[in-house]
Amino acid sequence: MERAGYGAIMSPLFEEIGVFLRLGDSTEIVTKEMYDFRDKGDNHIALRPELTASVVRAYVQHRPPTPWKVWYEGPQFRYERPQAGRYRQFSQVGIEALGTDDPMIDAEVISLASSFYADLGLRQVRLLLNSLGDPTCRPIYVEALREWFQSHLSDLSEQSQHTLLANPLRVLDSKREQDQQLIDDAPVMADYLTAETAEHFAGVRSGLDRLGIAYEISPRLVRGLDYYTRTTFEFASDALGTAQNAVGGGGRYDQLASELGGPDTPGIGFALGVDRILLACDAEASFEPPDSRVSVFVIDVTGGVEALALCNRLQSAAIGADRAYDARSMKAQMRAADRSGARFAAIVGEDEIANGVITLRDLRGDTGQAAIPTNEIINEIEKRLL
Ligand code: HAM
Repeated sequence: MERAGYGAIMSPLFEEIGVFLRLGDSTEIVTKEMYDFRDKGDNHIALRPELTASVVRAYVQHRPPTPWKVWYEGPQFRYERPQAGRYRQFSQVGIEALGTDDPMIDAEVISLASSFYADLGLRQVRLLLNSLGDPTCRPIYVEALREWFQSHLSDLSEQSQHTLLANPLRVLDSKREQDQQLIDDAPVMADYLTAETAEHFAGVRSGLDRLGIAYEISPRLVRGLDYYTRTTFEFASDALGTAQNAVGGGGRYDQLASELGGPDTPGIGFALGVDRILLACDAEASFEPPDSRVSVFVIDVTGGVEALALCNRLQSAAIGADRAYDARSMKAQMRAADRSGARFAAIVGEDEIANGVITLRDLRGDTGQAAIPTNEIINEIEKRLL
């Protein structure tokens, strides 16, 4: 992200609740999932359920020059029903870019997300792409959608009938079996886009094509937040169960800055779900867990203070080092060294101290055992670890 000119931003864990109410009163995030409370000054506060609103609040407050490109990471809080891949505290990594609606930045943002998964070795992640229209064409589409569902109301699940009253678009997000046929046959946004928005979407797609990033056009992709306009996208992992397979998502929110009291400023970004990404990494076995946290295990049979000092020296030289405690026997310490997975045991006994050496034993490779002068031990280990 920094290579692409995004600077780090750290925003507070909580904000005045008004910042998050803009996420939309037809979203569950706002109606059911907010951790909100009154503080000692009777301010109505909420733990952040996501970071886009906070970043846009910071933009409106500080008015940095545009394009303003930032990245963030940290915990978010949503009072959801906890299950595999869905937690009440979870972690996101994301970026936001404010101040331009050039379709090339849409492609840039999507490609950064996409390379994040690729760099982790994930192969089973699909990119779903849609355009949700703009303030001119979206209301016309929403009306068509309302009419469609209204004319088939009795076939719609009871929950979706409620959703329909608040926001017909979000009915498309229903996973209920009963609603699927109606959703499949419903009108699609693509048929309602204004020429300008259709052209913008074509620009985004040509950018992705040029980068060789594969995507699926997904006309039912509406996302769980109300601020989106035009480009929206989600990354789905086929290695995870379908209920929690979204490992990230994002899109444009061109009206959010003005809704929060700032100047009209287009914006786009994404957030990746770190917890789910780690589940996907496990499911795809995309990287081996490291077999050891440390390179050297120090064995001290003179009481323990030599191990304290040598571990400290090694760690200061950026070499991972661990030890046993409680002045255990040589044999017990050797067993602990084996269990640690460390490459070397560095042994300190009375003889070694008398001779100014440390015995270095290779526990995994074939360089055997040697007495190394104490002041050369760092160099020797560095050389052998190369
Ligand atoms: P979101 O789709 O609500 O978007 O969340 C992004 C990702 O966070 C999801 O795809 C998922 O991986 C992860 N996530 C969400 N809820 C949970 C949960 N309860 N447990 C575990 N992981 C979860 C946003 O938050 C937008 N702010 C993204 C964005 C940035 N749009 C524009 N800019």
